[in-house]
Amino acid sequence: VQAIGIFSRKGGVGKSTLAIHLSTLMQNDGRTLLIDCDPQGSLGYWEKLRDNDSFGIVGRSLEGLPPVLRAAEESGVRYVLADTPPSLEEPIPAAMKAFDFILVPLRPSALDIAAVAGTVATVKAAGIAFGCVLNMCPPRRGFGAPTAVQEIRDLLAGLGAPVFEAVLCHRVAFQNAVNGGETVTEYDPSGAAAAEIAALWEEIKTRLP
Ligand SMILES: Nc1ncnc2c1ncn2[C@@H]1O[C@H](COP(=O)(O)OP(=O)(O)O)[C@@H](O)[C@H]1O
Ligand SMILES: [Mg+2]
Repeated sequence: VQAIGIFSRKGGVGKSTLAIHLSTLMQNDGRTLLIDCDPQGSLGYWEKLRDNDSFGIVGRSLEGLPPVLRAAEESGVRYVLADTPPSLEEPIPAAMKAFDFILVPLRPSALDIAAVAGTVATVKAAGIAFGCVLNMCPPRRGFGAPTAVQEIRDLLAGLGAPVFEAVLCHRVAFQNAVNGGETVTEYDPSGAAAAEIAALWEEIKTRLP
């Protein structure tokens, strides 16, 4: 099993959105267990809206993760993907150590950079491989990345934080799909949002240890 955790001290940056839209792509590549460690319960809520196959999303406190990961390993699960609450307080730093890889979503805004520095420092202290995911980016116009995105890449480089080339733009499809209990891959398979999340998953696979 390869266990991926999504962490950020800040709320509203797209942790749950990322977990939801990655889920069906991961499931296509191997049996995937989704774990919702956020008491807010966004994944469980989304699953209730789904009328096709259910993921059997597991709700667990962060402290309860290690036995769930062991059980996943024993039952031949390929990937685990966990959504977590926005915090840097214990038990977050301890829980990070249970994962093989950590995704840190952020928006291309200076305020998010200020917050992400703490998350990056905590992941580094845990010694886990990680990558930052730029979310809610302005869609590309013409050549090159939008200025805000390039500036944030430079700031993250200054923090010594790896960033995925693939970014998610601000697109209503990410919201509409969730409202209907779907992922963008199901909701609009040929749309831009589906292409973005697919490119991100392909890139994540190249970085998994
Ligand atoms: N790429 C995106 N495009 C449009 N809306 C987004 C995108 N990512 C997240 N959102 C919206 O932003 C809000 C916060 O996202 P959410 O995933 O709940 O963040 P978190 O789990 O980090 O608190 C939600 O309303 C979600 O639908
Ligand atoms: Mg959330």
